[in-house]
Amino acid sequence: MVRYNFPKYEIELELDDDIYFPAEDTFFLVDSIEIPSTTKKIVEIGSGSGIISIVLAKNNPETQFLITDISFEATRAIKQNLDINNISNQIDIACMDKLEAIHNLKSDIIIWNPPYLPEENEENNISPLHKLMLVGGKKGYEETYHMLVSLKKSKASATFFTIFSSLSWSDKDIKNLKKEDINLEIIEKLSLFFEKLYLVKIDFCERNEKL
Ligand SMILES: C[S@@+](CC[C@H](N)C(=O)[O-])C[C@H]1O[C@@H](n2cnc3c(N)ncnc32)[C@H](O)[C@@H]1O
Repeated sequence: MVRYNFPKYEIELELDDDIYFPAEDTFFLVDSIEIPSTTKKIVEIGSGSGIISIVLAKNNPETQFLITDISFEATRAIKQNLDINNISNQIDIACMDKLEAIHNLKSDIIIWNPPYLPEENEENNISPLHKLMLVGGKKGYEETYHMLVSLKKSKASATFFTIFSSLSWSDKDIKNLKKEDINLEIIEKLSLFFEKLYLVKIDFCERNEKL
């Protein structure tokens, strides 16, 4: 593990090759998301190094967090990074696939910076851990899509924030989501050299109030 300083956020993180190194998508999400001051609970899926929740927890000291990752290596690093940044009492950690081990989810906000690259863009020799960090399925959006459908079915009452990339989501795929009554709002856009990123908000609370 090597310790890195992120002066903009006044945090330090221990990272190694098995953990997603915070990148443009991470900073775009953490810099663009706005957390209402009334927020009691946030769940973050696929937290990697823990950076997003650590920064948000420091800025929102009254909010409690549960953060998950499917990779045990990531959850071990998260534990270490919470301790380094003295924020362990605000954030619980669990190793699980998306939110599958939680049956009665109670959270105001759910956040996921998901793996979103299409499988075909990846080299064949990519390690299983790197695949989990980067590849979201054949087209790239499948992991996020399954999460959205599962939240809709479970009648979760939360606002979901995630990242869509132009490398995986086409306009047609987004229209298909709308057909499934999953209505999204694009909060912010970021143009990079090789892709466009969108911070997307889906308000499951509104939907469930109507039910
Ligand atoms: C693009 S990285 C983002 C990491 C971190 N949130 C960030 O923004 O720097 C995606 C993360 O999701 C995790 N992940 C992938 N599939 C997952 C799943 N099905 N359930 C939970 N976590 C998953 C990966 O292990 C990885 O840490």
